[in-house]
Amino acid sequence: MAKVISLINQKGGVGKTASTNAISACLKHMGYSVLCVDFDPQGYLSFSMNADTRDHSTIYDVIKHNVKPRYAIQKSNVVDIIPSDALLGNVEREFTGPGSEQMLKESLKTLLPMYDYILIDSPPELGLLSSNVIVASDIVLIPGLSDGYSLHGIIQVHETIFRIKKVFNPNLTIAGMFLLRYYPREALSRTTRETAQMLATHLNIPLLDTVIRHSNVISKAMTTLQKDIIDYAPDNNAVQDYTALVRELFERRLL
Ligand SMILES: Nc1ncnc2c1ncn2[C@@H]1O[C@H](COP(=O)(O)OP(=O)(O)O)[C@@H](O)[C@H]1O
Ligand SMILES: [Mg+2]
Repeated sequence: MAKVISLINQKGGVGKTASTNAISACLKHMGYSVLCVDFDPQGYLSFSMNADTRDHSTIYDVIKHNVKPRYAIQKSNVVDIIPSDALLGNVEREFTGPGSEQMLKESLKTLLPMYDYILIDSPPELGLLSSNVIVASDIVLIPGLSDGYSLHGIIQVHETIFRIKKVFNPNLTIAGMFLLRYYPREALSRTTRETAQMLATHLNIPLLDTVIRHSNVISKAMTTLQKDIIDYAPDNNAVQDYTALVRELFERRLL
């Protein structure tokens, strides 16, 4: 049965999508079968995997029961993906009331036996879409930029995850925070790491030892659309950091 992993943060631009893409590539290269689900109406993960949202079903069609989940899966150059597009933004308006936070979990049920891991990319908000992602997950990770500033709001993200865990998903593992776009030689990155450690201790969640260094290769790989990041740039620092991050998650028995 697949373990469902998601990255949550209400801020945009903190690396949720890039990390979802990269971690899924790492798991694939380790020999696991992986499905990605794009649950952001911006559809950037779908774009980064070159998925087709014009002639193919999206996660919105699955949620609406217009298509069976397995028929919404596409093969991509990275891993299998159920894409999304702007229509997913309608969910907030169309679905209210009891059960509306369980839609994604219900949709993924029949896919769990087909994969080792399912990764869900989430939108930059803490509304119904993110609630659905948190309810559907076994493991959540909180990414943060190494600029000090992006740590603001982590308490709120954690509070939201914790509240949803308590009510809907008691078995959820909050696997912790990790920092990305890290500059090892810059003092700001290093002080951010210290602040992040204090914050993690305060929230009683792990701060992962592995940091993802800044590299323009990440953005390039995400827009090149031909290869996964490991095939694209195996020797790149940030790419190697993602492999180290996944190894650390295994060592900590979080995956
Ligand atoms: N380690 C990194 N080094 C440099 N740029 C990065 C790194 N990780 C992500 N980025 C870039 O930062 C931007 C925001 O990342 P993204 O994953 O789209 O954030 P989010 O999904 O949280 O909005 C993207 O342009 C992405 O390519
Ligand atoms: Mg994103």
